[in-house]
Amino acid sequence: MLTGTIIAVTSGKGGVGKSTVAANLAIALARQGKQVALIDLDIYGFSIPKILDIENRLKTINGKIIPIESHGVKVISMGFLIKNNEPVVWRGPMLGKMVEHFSKDVMWGELDYCILDMPPGTGDVALDLHHYIPESKELIVTTPHQTASFVAERAGVMAIKSKHEIVGVIENMSYFQPKDSDQKYYLFGEGGSEEVAKSLQSVVIAKLPIEEASNNRATTAIYQEGSILFDHYNQLAQVINERVHSQKG
Ligand SMILES: Nc1ncnc2c1ncn2[C@@H]1O[C@H](COP(=O)(O)OP(=O)(O)O)[C@@H](O)[C@H]1O
Ligand SMILES: [Mg+2]
Repeated sequence: MLTGTIIAVTSGKGGVGKSTVAANLAIALARQGKQVALIDLDIYGFSIPKILDIENRLKTINGKIIPIESHGVKVISMGFLIKNNEPVVWRGPMLGKMVEHFSKDVMWGELDYCILDMPPGTGDVALDLHHYIPESKELIVTTPHQTASFVAERAGVMAIKSKHEIVGVIENMSYFQPKDSDQKYYLFGEGGSEEVAKSLQSVVIAKLPIEEASNNRATTAIYQEGSILFDHYNQLAQVINERVHSQKG
């Protein structure tokens, strides 16, 4: 059973940082003492195992799957269910089957949050999820880039159509700020996320800077203490907490 607040991280377009946001947000919520599940529903392009640097080693007890614990978060990915990296050839309705499987057959325990990393795609995927988990809320990730905002907007419009709450809009890769400088460089332009938020009657709740790639970076894409994005994600987790709380009341 999936309990707690269910938040689907959607974007429309791939490559805007949906999985990165889903994983880092889940971990930031766990740092604040929450019980958090992270479910990778990106059937065709699952990336959570790589982001968290975890391998397929699912165990079962009495036929129930035990989620993998990583950074204080309980994780399940399509990637754990696939042998030898074979491509997944399931079609549309598979999302429903996965949702059902992951909610019924996994020993989650009591949860405060359930973060869903969604596949790219606009209408169909969003609508599907709304059908299977009517109570899920949406968190929309976009970049400032126009095209990215456009598709992100469409994903959100679908959410509104099916009466889903939007927790907010996150602008990822918002700007670049060199170390020890106050100067922000808006490499992908400005204003895209505000446009999306406005048209969805929502708000931009975070602007996450571009992180400079480093050659000696560890294999995981989880932001550690001391990095700017670590602080951003702590703040984001707090904002999400407050918003979810006030939306409930
Ligand atoms: N704020 C950021 N700064 C720099 N690189 C980022 C940032 N967010 C995400 N990335 C990188 O962008 C790529 C795509 O991110 P990913 O989370 O896989 O996107 P999606 O799930 O939307 O396809 C990854 O290589 C990721 O490390
Ligand atoms: Mg992804």
